[in-house]
Amino acid sequence: ADEPLVLGIETSCDETGVGIVRGHTLLADAVASSVDDHARYGGVVPEIASRAHLEAMVPTIRRALDEAGVAASDLDGIAVTAGPGLAGALLVGVSAAKAYAYALGKPLYGVNHLASHICVDQLEHGALPEPTMALLVSGGHSSLLLAPDITSDVRPLGSTIDDAAGEAFDKVARVLNLGFPGGPVIDRYAREGDRDAIAFPRGLTGPRDAAYDFSFSGLKTAVARWIEARRNAGEDVPVADVAASFQEAVTDVLTRKAIRACKEEGVDHLMIGGGVAANSRLRSLAEERCADAGITLRVPRPKLCTDNGAMVAALGAEMVARNRAASDWELPADSSLPV
Ligand code: KG4
Ligand code: ZN
Repeated sequence: ADEPLVLGIETSCDETGVGIVRGHTLLADAVASSVDDHARYGGVVPEIASRAHLEAMVPTIRRALDEAGVAASDLDGIAVTAGPGLAGALLVGVSAAKAYAYALGKPLYGVNHLASHICVDQLEHGALPEPTMALLVSGGHSSLLLAPDITSDVRPLGSTIDDAAGEAFDKVARVLNLGFPGGPVIDRYAREGDRDAIAFPRGLTGPRDAAYDFSFSGLKTAVARWIEARRNAGEDVPVADVAASFQEAVTDVLTRKAIRACKEEGVDHLMIGGGVAANSRLRSLAEERCADAGITLRVPRPKLCTDNGAMVAALGAEMVARNRAASDWELPADSSLPV
């Protein structure tokens, strides 16, 4: 096989991810998460994440190489998330990638975290059509991106002006005392609830609002106020109905704006990535609305949607395949790296 064999390292947040791919084929996807260490704080603590990456890095690289059954000497390159993300966390990954690449005599590819969230879909559905529209929704980002060339040209059309979509799920879960991370548990409760029970606000959907930006903090406040009013009146909080109605408000806005972007940019493929792409209502609503609009929807399986090393390897392999320039040894970790 002459498809590029690439190892990818991801440490932008709380998962230490090491993946190995050959072209579009996933060979290994090893992830060590420090999520449990952060749970008691209700969110990711940067210093804890950095230390956890440091401890997990070498064992996770070994595990990925074992799982893939390849020798490090056969790699065509080492790719790493250069940003955006938590500065200290990124530094651990970038330093490790440089050390391995230098020691093995392999080229180093610094990649953008958001672009790799898009590129990972090649491991699920094969070559990504270009241009592709991407909706990336996680605890750290909520962006609409147009990707004419996944290795060199990814354009931000809009993003959240306050909370990320996943952050909104986490905060609402906290108000409902459901624990962290909140997305999966709200998703579960929502299945038993009525999504039309409570009319929560749809942020930034007015005629004068930015077409592709998102806002979820007003929604979060509206949910908190609604719950408080119930509690103050001595009434029970219908958790399933609140979860379903809140989830509907988020997914309605996300899918509406993503499809509008596809139509206005003349793009007939939409990919959805990031941890919130695991949301069952987001998936079903996107399927429904894409089908109506004649848009092909691509959503990778949940394990590829959350942060992982395979997505970094996938983008690295694409860079090798397209003869993109490797990074130099000065490659910085850039916490606010633009796409
Ligand atoms: O991509 P990810 O693992 O990490 C980053 O934030 O980069 O995403 C985690 C986020 C959390 O906010 C979590 O609550 C949310 O994704 N999430 C979900 C679901 N599963 C995870 N949100 C809604 N529904 C889900 N099923
Ligand atoms: Zn991410």
